[in-house]
Amino acid sequence: MTTRNSSTRADVFDLLKDDHKRIKKAFRDYAKLDPDTDHEARRQYVEQVCAHLERHATLEETLFYPAARTALDDQGLVEEAEVEHDAAKALILQVRATPPDHPRFAALFTVLGEYVKHHVKEEENDLFKQISRADIQWGELLADMKARRAELEREGEATPSAHTDHDLDQDGHGARGAGTPLPPPRGTRSSQQHKVIR
Ligand SMILES: [Fe+2]
Ligand SMILES: [Fe+2]
Repeated sequence: MTTRNSSTRADVFDLLKDDHKRIKKAFRDYAKLDPDTDHEARRQYVEQVCAHLERHATLEETLFYPAARTALDDQGLVEEAEVEHDAAKALILQVRATPPDHPRFAALFTVLGEYVKHHVKEEENDLFKQISRADIQWGELLADMKARRAELEREGEATPSAHTDHDLDQDGHGARGAGTPLPPPRGTRSSQQHKVIR
């Protein structure tokens, strides 16, 4: 493998790891919320995290996993990852269908967070390791992933869904795309200090 190809390989992994880091932090920030936090603010924050998760899953399912499938003889880890995505999406549907003042709402979101943490660990520890030895045009994959990610961001900004917030963005923007800054939920100490997802 050329040096250039191996450095773009690292960039592909970094792009996904960066997203993983933001997503895990978003769940940790939610866990710090005051139990009395306004239900609507809670729902809006959860929706932003779910939308970000969906965009991340789309990025992997449309580009990263197909590249892995093509390059790997053993498809087991990719199959597992896709099954886990489906299970996470089913949980997201349940979260959206549950009123934020219902005790099940927090439980569902907490379980989703635990599930995502497990999935990310397997992805980074096992799938990345396996695919790093595969014969892939990493430069092309990286360019495609960056372009797709930008497209998903634009779609997220242009299509405020019935689920997404109107005012969580303190700058007055609507729904956010993958890779766009997202403030921590109101009611956490960190909400005044730094961003959760960007
Ligand atoms: Fe994944
Ligand atoms: Fe991932």
